[in-house]
Amino acid sequence: MPRLRRLVAGHFTPARIAALRPRIVEIAADLLAGLPEPGTADLVSGYALPLPVTVICELFGVPEADRTVFHVWSNELVMPASPQTGASAAGALGAYLADLIHRKRGAQEADLLSDLVATAREPGAESPLTSEELLGMAFLLLVAGHETTVNLISATVHALLTHPDQLELLRSEPELVGSAVEEALRHYAPVHATAFRFAAEPLDLAGTHIPTGDAVQISLAAASRDPLHFPDPDRFDLRRQGPAHLAFGHGLHHCLGAPLARTEAVIAVRLLLHHCPDLALAADPAALTWRTSMLVRGLSELPVRIGSVGAR
Ligand code: HEM
Repeated sequence: MPRLRRLVAGHFTPARIAALRPRIVEIAADLLAGLPEPGTADLVSGYALPLPVTVICELFGVPEADRTVFHVWSNELVMPASPQTGASAAGALGAYLADLIHRKRGAQEADLLSDLVATAREPGAESPLTSEELLGMAFLLLVAGHETTVNLISATVHALLTHPDQLELLRSEPELVGSAVEEALRHYAPVHATAFRFAAEPLDLAGTHIPTGDAVQISLAAASRDPLHFPDPDRFDLRRQGPAHLAFGHGLHHCLGAPLARTEAVIAVRLLLHHCPDLALAADPAALTWRTSMLVRGLSELPVRIGSVGAR
């Protein structure tokens, strides 16, 4: 395992993430309690977004007062309105994180960033993090925590509300919620492409010649709908069997946050459906808009009708 990945991988094991479950349930329940009932609400800004943002900020010890501006920067970084605004958000985020790391050095707090700060300066450690590496790691993890799971939660709900037979199936067999999240990962690919790879040697792939040094970006969205591997790939099907999707990437760089993202999405969908037995889309599906960048794709808004709340 690459050195930098090894230094943080221990914090993202399924066991560490399972320990967060009660807190994730609590945050989701609080958010649901804040939705109008009955009424209509935007499920992205009211639920799918604040859930993972609160979890990742608590995990990293980002003070509550800073979370809104942090999110504005991270959003601008991933989907910049222009190259200038993207660069200025990256600068602001980097300066903010450098300052937060500085503050963590002085205070012995119980959060992941404080742990990384401690790892960074352990005397005689086999491979301590340099300050730049620490900053880069905090940057990557916090931005990933902000810009990905929101799209998975909203995509899963969108899929269920636009496929009433699958929603009915899930309501009758709630234990399929994990399958619903996996199928949404395959069907929507919230991170739709990998970071660039560079060809180490010349390569011929499906009739295309790739010379040494050329940049290659892999479409995970296309891979997860490859008809050679996924029969009837455009169908959203909770009972789908067969090969695993590629929504979290593959191999050496397989997503480190996958256990966290899966846990959050399963809890979010399970609690939402339980809380809102009559949940329905409050907009024409064709009118919904999607925000797409080089890496991520997700709904801008998901207007829903809440109806009566409580058990059916
Ligand atoms: C639905 C949610 C998520 C999806 C679909 C997703 C997807 C991905 C994908 C496809 C990659 C591989 C990129 C490549 O090969 O170039 C990746 C890497 C990574 N993800 Fe995620 N991710 C999600 C959530 C998260 C979360 C919540 C975190 C952390 C808080 C996270 C942290 C990372 C890190 C650190 C890497 C780089 C791993 C490495 O290079 O060794 N991800 N993710």
